[in-house]
Amino acid sequence: MQIKRFERKEEVALHAAELILNTVAERPDAVLGLATGSTPIGIYEKMVESYRRRSLSFRSVTTFNLDEYAGLPASHEQSYASYMTRHLFGHTDFDPSRTHIPNGDADDPAAECAAYDELLRKHPIDLQLLGLGHNGHIGFNEPGSALAGGTHVVELKLATREANARFFTAPSKVPARAITMGIGSILKSRAILLVVTGPDKAEIVRESLAGPITTACPASLLQTHANVTVLLDRDAGRKL
Ligand code: GLP
Repeated sequence: MQIKRFERKEEVALHAAELILNTVAERPDAVLGLATGSTPIGIYEKMVESYRRRSLSFRSVTTFNLDEYAGLPASHEQSYASYMTRHLFGHTDFDPSRTHIPNGDADDPAAECAAYDELLRKHPIDLQLLGLGHNGHIGFNEPGSALAGGTHVVELKLATREANARFFTAPSKVPARAITMGIGSILKSRAILLVVTGPDKAEIVRESLAGPITTACPASLLQTHANVTVLLDRDAGRKL
C-alpha cells in the first residue's frame, strides 16, 4: 500500500485526477471504477478541466460505478446516475453505452445485481476510485459480520443515511437501501485509488489502514490488495 500525503484537499484532487488521466492516456480503452460522494467532486472537476485543455478523449473508456440508491429513478436529482452526469459525464465525451451504474429502480434487483456482475466479469477494472465512509464503508459495503463478494442489495446503516441526509430535503427521504458492488469485485480491480480528506475521517483512516483486517471495517480489507494507492490530505492523515 502506497500512502501519499498532501497538505490540502485540492492537491489530493489534482493528484488523483492525474493518476486517472495517466491511466486513460496510456490505455484509451481503460476500464475505470468510479465513486460518488463529496470527495470525488474535486477530482471530476480536474478531469473535466483537463479534458477541455488537452486533446484527451474518454470515448473508448468503460466505467462502472460502485453503487446506486435503491428505489430512486435515475432521473432523481440525488441518484448517483444524476450525480455522474452533473459532475463528469455531462461535460466530457464518455460514451453512454460504456458507462455503467446499477439501476436502483430495477423491478428485479437480484437480476440487476447478477447482470452487473456479468458485465464486471467481461470488463475487469483497471483502476478503481474509492472514497471512504465514516464507518469504514467502501461503495455501500457496510460493516457487519460478513461481507458480500458480488453486487448485492444492502440495507444502509442509520449513520450512513444521516451522513447523506445533507443531499436530500429531509433525512427521511434518504433511501433505506442501495445496490453496491461487493468487496470481492472491488478487490479484483488491478489497481485501487483510495482518496480521503477532512478531519472527520482521520480516525477511520487509521482504523482502515493501520487497524486489524475485519469485516467490522470494510475498508480494512484493502490491506490485502497488492496495488492500493491512498491519497490523504493533512487532516485525514493526522492519526496515521
Ligand atoms: C457514500 C458513498 C461512498 C462514499 C462515501 C463517503 O455514501 N456510497 O461511495 O465513498 O459515502 O462519502 P463522502 O465522500 O461524501 O464522505
